[in-house]
Amino acid sequence: RVSGIVREFQKKCDSPIGKLHNVADSMAVEMRVGLASEGGSMLKMLISYVDNLPTGEEEGLFYALDLGGTNFRVLRVHLGGKGKGLIKTEFDEVSIPPHCMTSSSHELFDFIAAELARFVATEGENSHPFPGRQRELGFTFSFPVRQTSISSGTLIKWTKGFSIEDAVGEDVVGELNKAMERVGLHMRVTALVNDTIGTLAGGRYYNPDVVAAVILGTGMNAAYVERANAIPKWQGPLPRSGDMVINMEWGNFRSSDLPLTEYDNDLDVASLNPGEQIFEKMISGMYLGEILRRVLLKIAEEAEFFGDSVPEKLKIPFILRTPHMSAMHHDTSSNLKDVASKLRDILEINNTSLTMRKVVVELCDTIATRGARLSAAGIYGILKKLGRDTRKDGEYQKSVIALDGGLFEHYEKFRQSMESTLKELLGEEASDSVVITHSNDGSGIGAALLAASHSQYL
Ligand code: BG6
Ligand code: GLC
Repeated sequence: RVSGIVREFQKKCDSPIGKLHNVADSMAVEMRVGLASEGGSMLKMLISYVDNLPTGEEEGLFYALDLGGTNFRVLRVHLGGKGKGLIKTEFDEVSIPPHCMTSSSHELFDFIAAELARFVATEGENSHPFPGRQRELGFTFSFPVRQTSISSGTLIKWTKGFSIEDAVGEDVVGELNKAMERVGLHMRVTALVNDTIGTLAGGRYYNPDVVAAVILGTGMNAAYVERANAIPKWQGPLPRSGDMVINMEWGNFRSSDLPLTEYDNDLDVASLNPGEQIFEKMISGMYLGEILRRVLLKIAEEAEFFGDSVPEKLKIPFILRTPHMSAMHHDTSSNLKDVASKLRDILEINNTSLTMRKVVVELCDTIATRGARLSAAGIYGILKKLGRDTRKDGEYQKSVIALDGGLFEHYEKFRQSMESTLKELLGEEASDSVVITHSNDGSGIGAALLAASHSQYL
C-alpha cells in the first residue's frame, strides 16, 4: 500500500525532457503576452524603471533594506568608484516577527524603520555620507509591485508568508517614509527594487555578461534585461541604453504541462493565496518541506506507515521545513541516522526502520528533483525568449545568470539537478555559453548600487 501511494506520486511528479521543453515554450509565449499589455497574462512582466545597470563607477555611501526573504536585512555599502569597487559592506540581519507578517502595514513598517534607525546609529566616523547630504537608501522589497518610477510603486499583492490587507494597493515607499518619520529618521529612498532586480544589478557590477537573475529561496522569481522596443506596453520614452529590466513574477506561472499532484492542490487550497503562485508552490523553499509533510501524512493515514496511529506532529502544517528535508536528502550514513533524528526531533516519530527512512529519502528526491527541473525549464524559457539558446551570426552569445536564495545556496542536490537539467535542455553546444553564478547577497548590494546611480546628488 505504501509503495503504491509513493509510486503513484512519483509518476505524477515525473518531468521528462519533452514536458520541460513545453513548459519553457509556454513560459516564452506568456512572457510576450505579459509584455504586450497590462493584465493580459499570468506573468505580470513588471517594468522596473531600471534602464541602466551598474557600471562599476558608482561611488559613495549608501544604505539598503532587504525585505521578503527568510531574514530582514539592513546594509551600509561603501562604493569606491571607478577601479576601486566595493570598499566595505556592513549589515545586520534579523528575522521578521511572525505577527508583523500578517498584522497591519503600520506595524510592519514601524518594525522596519526601527531596525533601520538602530543600524544607522552605529555609523562610525568614516561611515556617514558627505556632510550636509541626506542619507540615501535602496529598498529591496521582494513582492510584486507596480512601479510608478524608480523610487515609487504600489503593492499588487502579497506572496509567500505575508498577508497584510491594508498594505495592498498602497505606495510602499510612502509607507516606509511615514514610518521613518514616526521614529525620527531622515533618509531618502532613491530606488525601490524587487530582489531579482537587485540581484541582477549586483551580478552586473561584477560581470558585464549577466543578462538575468533568478531567486530560488523562500519564494522564486526571475528578472532579465529586455530591449525596451520589445515591450509594447511601455509608454515612456525609449531609454538611451535601449534596455529595460523586467521583473517577471514567474512564481505565478502555470501551464497544463506542470506535473501537479493532489498534494499540490491541497497545499494551494489551504494556503494564504489559493489559486495563485502555482509555479512557486511547486518549487520554492517555503513549500517543498510542506509537500513532503503532506505525502508522509497520506501514507501514515492510509497505509499506517508510522504504525497504527498517525503521529500528531505530522498533522501540523509547515512543521517540516525545507532545510529539514534537505538534511534528510543529503544523509550519506549507511543507517540514515540524520533521517532518523529529524523524524524524531521534528515529528516525534521514534523507532523508524531503515526501510522507512529510505522511503523518506526517496520522497525528498522526487520533490526536489521536480522543483529543480521545473526551475531549469523556466530559465531555459528566458534564454529562448532572448534567442540566446541558438547561434547568432554563427556564434552563441555568452549568457551569465546570477542566482541567489537559500534553496540555491544550501540545497546542493536541488542545485545540481537544476544545473544539469539546464544543460540537458540547452544541448551540449549551447550549454557552454550559459553560465550560472552565485550572486551572494547580491540583492542588498544591488539595491545600494541602484540607490547610488539614482542619487539626487548626481
Ligand atoms: C537573499 C537576497 O540573498 O536571498 C534577498 O539578498 C532575497 O533579497 C533572498 O529575497 C531570497 O532567499 P531566501 O532563501 O532568504 O528567501
Ligand atoms: C515571490 C515574490 C517575488 C520575489 C520572489 C523571491 O515570488 O512575489 O517578488 O521576487 O518571491 O523572493
